[in-house]
Amino acid sequence: MDKHPIVDIVVFGSQGDLSKRKLIPALFQLFLKGVLSPHNRIVAITRHTIDQTILLEAFRASTIQPTTSAEHAARWPEFAQHIFPIVCDLEVAESYSALSEFLNTTQSIRIFYFSIPPNLFGTVAKLLKLKNCIHYDSRVVVEKPLGHDFKSAEITNATLAQTFPEDKTFRIDHYLGKETVQNIMALRFANTILEPLWCADRIDYIQITVAETVPVGNRAGYYERTGALRDMVQNHLLQLLCIVAMEPPARLTPYAVRDEKLKVLHSLRPILSHDVVEKTVRGQYCDLQGVGPSYRNEPGVAEDSDTETFVALKAQVDNWRWAGMPIYLRTGKCLKQRRSEIVIQFKEVPHDLFSNTRSMSANRLTILLQPEESIRLRLNGKSPGKGMNLEPLMLNLDSGNRANRKSWEAYERLLLDVIQGDLTLFMRRTDIEAAWQWIDPIIEGWQSRGHQSLPYTAGSWGPVESDQLLAQDSHIWHNPDSL
Ligand code: BG6
Repeated sequence: MDKHPIVDIVVFGSQGDLSKRKLIPALFQLFLKGVLSPHNRIVAITRHTIDQTILLEAFRASTIQPTTSAEHAARWPEFAQHIFPIVCDLEVAESYSALSEFLNTTQSIRIFYFSIPPNLFGTVAKLLKLKNCIHYDSRVVVEKPLGHDFKSAEITNATLAQTFPEDKTFRIDHYLGKETVQNIMALRFANTILEPLWCADRIDYIQITVAETVPVGNRAGYYERTGALRDMVQNHLLQLLCIVAMEPPARLTPYAVRDEKLKVLHSLRPILSHDVVEKTVRGQYCDLQGVGPSYRNEPGVAEDSDTETFVALKAQVDNWRWAGMPIYLRTGKCLKQRRSEIVIQFKEVPHDLFSNTRSMSANRLTILLQPEESIRLRLNGKSPGKGMNLEPLMLNLDSGNRANRKSWEAYERLLLDVIQGDLTLFMRRTDIEAAWQWIDPIIEGWQSRGHQSLPYTAGSWGPVESDQLLAQDSHIWHNPDSL
C-alpha cells in the first residue's frame, strides 16, 4: 500500500452541513498531520455556479475555529489550493462532462462521497458510470439513512452495487470511528485478563446508553419519518453492541472483523410483536410546565405526532457466551446529560464475607465515549483504619499520558481509512440488512400493538417506564453521579 496514496475526493452535497462541519475540517486536519499526498484534489460539487472565493470562504469559516492555532490557520490557503469547485446538476447526464474531463486528466484513486439524499444514489452512480467517471479504483462513501427498513435498504444497496462492488463501498457509521470504540477491541483482544470474564457466567448485564441533551430542532422533517429507533439504534447502538459482544476475530482484517460482528446481529433474539410491551419503551420529550422544549412544538412536527425521541429496550444475544444475559440499550434526545457509555456490570460475589458492611458493590467496568473518553473499573477495597470496612476503589484505565494525547476525530480516521482502502471500520451490505431485519419486527410490533410514545420531561432520563424495564429484572440504569 502506498504510504500516501494519491486520490481525487469528489464531494456531492459539498455545501451541506456534513461537508462544512465534518468533511472539510477532517481533511484539513489530515493535511496538517501530513498524512495526505500533496497531489490530492478535492472536488466540491455544487448544483449552481458559485464564486470560488465565496465557496472557499464558507469552508474556511466552518473549519478555522477560534480554538485553531495561528500556525494552523496560516496553512489554510495552502490546503485550499487543493479544492476545486465543479458545477453539476445531479440528474442531468451532460452536466457530468466537466467532472469527467477533470477526473480523467489523472489516474488517481477516485473517492465519491455521497453527502446527498439516498434517493439520488442510484441516479448519480449510474451517471458517473455513463460519463466515464468510474475507473479501476473508484470508491463510494455513503452514510445513513441507508434504508428505512430491510426492503428499502436492500434496494439502496442493490442500486449502489450496480456501479460499485462491495469492496469499493464504504458505509460510514461515525460511531465506529470513535477512539474509545476501537479501544474496546484493544482492551478485549490485546489482554488476557478480561476475556475469561467476558461472558454471561461472570457478567450480570450490559447497558449501552447514548444520551443527548439537544432537542430535534430544525431536523424535524427527517426525524418525523425516522424516530430514535431508526436514527440511533439500528446503526450506532447495534454497532456498539456488536463490538462488545463479538467473538475474537482470527485476524484484524475487514473480512474477519465484520464476519464476527455479523454473527452477533444474527444471534440477536427477535423482539416480536408480543414482546414489545415487555421489552421496549418509547418516549417523546414534552414540557409539562409549558416552558421548555417539547417535541410536538418543534417546527415541522405534527401536533399529534407519535414519533419516539427516546427508546429503551432489552436485547439478548442467543449464543454460548451470552445466553440468558440482558443487554439494555437506551438513547434519546433532550435527556439530562450528554453521555454515551457502555456499562459492564459484573455479578455479585458468590459468598459475602463482609456482610457487616453495606458498601460493597459488584465490580463494574464503565466505558465512557462522550463527552470525555475514559475507562474505569470499580473494585472494592478496605477503608483505612480500624475494622474491616469496605469502600469502592476506582481504577482509571485512562490515567497517565493517554489523557494528554488528543485523539483523532471520527471523520479524520474514517476518511483516512477510505483513502487507504481499509474497510474494517465500515459496514457491509449484510450488516446493514441484518440490523434492519432485527429492527423491522419491533416497529411492526409497535404498530400492531398500538405501543405509543410515552411523554417524558425534557431534561430527565426518559419516561419512568424505562426504569421499570430494568426493574423487572431487578436491575437499574447506571447513575453517572454514582461510582
Ligand atoms: C446521528 C443522528 O447519526 O448521530 C443524530 O442522526 C445524532 O440524531 C448523532 O444527534 C449523534 O452523534 P454524536 O457523535 O454527536 O453522538
